[in-house]
Amino acid sequence: MPQLAIYPGSFDPPTNGHVDVITRAARISGTLIVAVLNNTAKQPVFTLAERVSLLRELTSSIANVEIACFDGLLVDFAAQRSADAIIRGMRTLSDYESEVQMALINRRLRPHTETLFLMASEEHSAISSRMIKEIAILGGEVSQFVPEPVAFKLREKFGPAR
Ligand code: PNS
Repeated sequence: MPQLAIYPGSFDPPTNGHVDVITRAARISGTLIVAVLNNTAKQPVFTLAERVSLLRELTSSIANVEIACFDGLLVDFAAQRSADAIIRGMRTLSDYESEVQMALINRRLRPHTETLFLMASEEHSAISSRMIKEIAILGGEVSQFVPEPVAFKLREKFGPAR
């Protein structure tokens, strides 16, 4: 069991799949840091502050979860926080290639931080933040894919579902 694990991501926006991974990862970690990437090269739909605030709200009932931000290399953030594991959710076969590539690179950069993969729960395996944004932009109903505070924010940004 990792004493301190990091679950990194863009979380733009957080989905039910993310919350599922956080809940399950927190059960097998001493402390779980959900690390939100501050990627200045990409223009996210949700600001860093919005993503952090939503994640805080969504995880408020899980005592050993902390929300943090990072920029630069994930392994540098892991070193800074003395993390022993990086958690990633694995949804479909198409995730496998890029996730394994990222895990192998991160291992080369920082060998003592292990990447642990949690298989997404069946009901969440088709959900991605990118698709949620597309559905919301095109006026579709997202409430079955994201927690209510996220659905509320999406409606604020893109208007109600048709
Ligand atoms: O939720 P995402 O967008 O799939 O998360 C990707 C993330 C944030 C984990 C990844 O892009 C990342 O770690 N970025 C930080 C930069 C870095 O360390 N790159 C080298 C790893 S290949």
